[in-house]
Amino acid sequence: MATKSKSKRKSLGKSKSALNLKQRPRRNRQSAFVRDLVRESKVSVEDLIWPVFVKEGIAKREEIKTMPGVFRFSEKELIQEAREAVKLGIRAIALFPAIDPKKKDPHGSEALNKNSLVPRSIRALKSALPDLVIIADVALDPFSSDGHDGLVVDGEIVNDESVEVLANMALVFAEAGADYVAPSDMMDGRIGAIREALDRDGFTKTGILSYCAKYASSFYGPFRDALDSAPKSGDKKTYQMDPANAREALREAALDIREGADILMVKPGMPYLDILYRLREKVSLPLAVYQVSGEYAMICAASDRGMIDRRRAIEESLLSFKRAGADMILTYFAKEWAGY
Ligand code: PBG
Repeated sequence: MATKSKSKRKSLGKSKSALNLKQRPRRNRQSAFVRDLVRESKVSVEDLIWPVFVKEGIAKREEIKTMPGVFRFSEKELIQEAREAVKLGIRAIALFPAIDPKKKDPHGSEALNKNSLVPRSIRALKSALPDLVIIADVALDPFSSDGHDGLVVDGEIVNDESVEVLANMALVFAEAGADYVAPSDMMDGRIGAIREALDRDGFTKTGILSYCAKYASSFYGPFRDALDSAPKSGDKKTYQMDPANAREALREAALDIREGADILMVKPGMPYLDILYRLREKVSLPLAVYQVSGEYAMICAASDRGMIDRRRAIEESLLSFKRAGADMILTYFAKEWAGY
C-alpha cells in the first residue's frame, strides 16, 4: 500500500513556478494522506442515530413506497434490526410507530396506553440491548385521527391542552425505559412541562432531545406516508416554523434551554444548514440534525436514475452536517453508512 501511494505522489516533486505565489492552498490537497491530515470534520458511526419505523400486527416488514429501502418493521424484526445496528457501531435509534388506524382518535388516546406499540417496543429493546440509546418521539400525529401534533379543537391546534397530553405521553415512554424523549410537536412550553412531569415522577435521568428548530417543511412527505400521519385538514404552519425565519430559531433555542432541554435539534437538515451553524455559534448544548425522509428520498431518486453517485452523496451530506456544527445526525442512511 505504502509504495503504491508513494509512486502516485508525483505532485510532490518540483515544478516551475510561473506565478509568484506565496500561498498555494492546493499544497494541502495534493495527496490523500495530506488531505487526511488537514481534514476539519469527520463523520463517525457513533454520531449516527437511526430512525426506525415499527408497526403492530404485521409478521413481515413492509417497504415504504416513497422511501425505497426503508421499512416498517414488525415488532420482532425491530429487535433483530436493532441488534444488527449495534453490531455496526450505532449507538442510538429513534422510534416511530405505525399505529393501527382503528386505534387513532381525536385525543390520540393510544399515545397514553402503557401497553401500546411504543412502550412495548422500548421495553423489548431495552431488555435485548440495554446499552442502545432509545429516543422516543413525543407528538400526537401518529396517534391522532386528525394527523396533527397537538389536539384540534374547532379547527385550531390548541397549545396548553396539547402540552398536558404530551407531558403524560413522555411519562409513559420514560417509564418504559426511553433514554430520551424527543418532543417533535413545536407547542409552546412543552419542554418545561415535560421536564417538570419527568422530575415530579422521579425520571430525573430521562433526557429531553428537543426538536427545537423544526420547520413546516415539504420534506416530511415520505415520513407521513410511512405512518399514514398526514394532517387530515390544514397544515402545520401554526406550530412548525416558517422556512423564511432564522433568528426565530435562536429564540426557540433560548426557551428550550431555559425550560430544561438536554439536546437541541434542527430539522430538516440540508436546507437548514445555516440554522445549524447559527445555533452552533450561540449555544453550548449538544446539537442534533435530522436528515428527513424527503432528503433521503431525493438522494435515492437521483442515484437510482444514475444522476448522482449514491454513496458519495450520502457521505457528503452527512459530512456537511458535521461541518455546520452537528454533534449527532438522525439519518435513514445510518445503517448503510455504517456498513461502508
Ligand atoms: C412528527 C414527526 C414528523 C417527522 C418526525 N416527527 C413529521 C411531521 O412533523 O409532520 C418527520 C421526519 C421525516 O420526515 O423523516 N411530529
